[in-house]
Amino acid sequence: MSEFQAPKGVPDYLPPESAEFVAVRDGLLNTARLAGYGDVELPIFEDTALFARGVGESTDVVSKEMYTFADRGERSVTLRPEGTAGVMRAVIEHGLDRGALPVKLCYAGPFFRYERPQAGRYRQLQQVGVEAIGVDDPALDAEVIAIADAGFRSLGLDGFRLEITSLGDDTCRPQYRELLQSFLFKLDLDDDTRRRAEINPLRVLDDKRPHVREMTAEAPVMLDHLSDVAKQHFETVLAHLDALGVPYVINPRMVRGLDYYTKTTFEFVHDGLGAQSGIGGGGRYDGLMRQLGGQDLSGIGFGLGVDRTVLALRAEGKTAGNPSRCDVFGVPLGEQSKLVLATVAARLRAAGVRVDLAYGDRGMKGAMRAADRSGARIALVAGDRDIEAGTIGVKDLATGAQVDIPADSVVAEVITRLA
Ligand code: HAM
Repeated sequence: MSEFQAPKGVPDYLPPESAEFVAVRDGLLNTARLAGYGDVELPIFEDTALFARGVGESTDVVSKEMYTFADRGERSVTLRPEGTAGVMRAVIEHGLDRGALPVKLCYAGPFFRYERPQAGRYRQLQQVGVEAIGVDDPALDAEVIAIADAGFRSLGLDGFRLEITSLGDDTCRPQYRELLQSFLFKLDLDDDTRRRAEINPLRVLDDKRPHVREMTAEAPVMLDHLSDVAKQHFETVLAHLDALGVPYVINPRMVRGLDYYTKTTFEFVHDGLGAQSGIGGGGRYDGLMRQLGGQDLSGIGFGLGVDRTVLALRAEGKTAGNPSRCDVFGVPLGEQSKLVLATVAARLRAAGVRVDLAYGDRGMKGAMRAADRSGARIALVAGDRDIEAGTIGVKDLATGAQVDIPADSVVAEVITRLA
């Protein structure tokens, strides 16, 4: 075993498999860009208080899973566990909320949660996210959801389902909370669970222990107690999803791990992944900006798990991306041919062709083995005698057929063959 290993629960992505990771990340992000979301690159670490206040003190994410440390100036900073709070901070700080609304932003990158590592659950996880801020329109909720759905499908993924619910708004949630609490307080709960019921009763509905599940099976659900406004909003979102042909199932018992959600809340679930089945999730967060000291503007967004989407594709027996490193592999067999093939490679790369060369004088056999391993379709083979004769051998690596081509037309020949 090597002396150093990656931190526990943190995946390395290496070629050729990393091509899948990149294709998934870029595919999901591009789908968002097609709907007018603009890229943001935000800090990996922020003021700890931002997450405590934004995500919620009572959540596992904040209370148990944050990578928090004091920097050399004795400020408490935290590696971002999620993206929404940081986006809101940046929108408020830079006054984007005073411009045209909605503000539509997207991002991709790593997030950090000190969770117990297992298949599909990492301590450094990668997400693609979008946030649409400042317009409380159910059509926008449907757009955000449809983008995620289209992003997954653009990768060829189809064994997932969209679960959706409404968590209500300021006018109906407090009453529902009391209703749920009075139901829960009548049950025979252990001290910890009772405390959870006091702080955030919804979380008790998320308890996975069978005896708690049984006790809460008949618990009241938010969906049956929505205000007229929240109900109308939810029904309009569903009507839009129907019109867009985005299939969904209503899950009135959905509980998300972050406290900021209001109204529309959703999750994409893939059954091929075992326990960590959530490949993406999101929802409205209409009180978050005010809570972080900004204006009272609404927002909606999602975070899609890139790592889990890669696993979901594999579970469906599908691949994304191109695992080959190059299209053309140069095999120079002498000093003069090295020089000539290097210039041919530079010209092909300038034309957008991926080219690698054999280095280190490994001889014909070793170089051809490297050419095969590279995934290239064509090898360019030349010894110094060929170069003197003004020719380069163009070899089709699938069939093995090789022809000599005049050196000055080899770039055109390769481009024609690859087209
Ligand atoms: P989240 O549900 O906590 O939401 O995370 C979004 C997705 O990130 C999950 O569905 C999952 O695919 C992936 N994920 C989360 N934790 C892990 C982990 N430990 N290992 C691997 N993948 C993981 C959010 O983070 C919200 N900020 C999403 C959002 C944006 N809501 C509104 N706007």
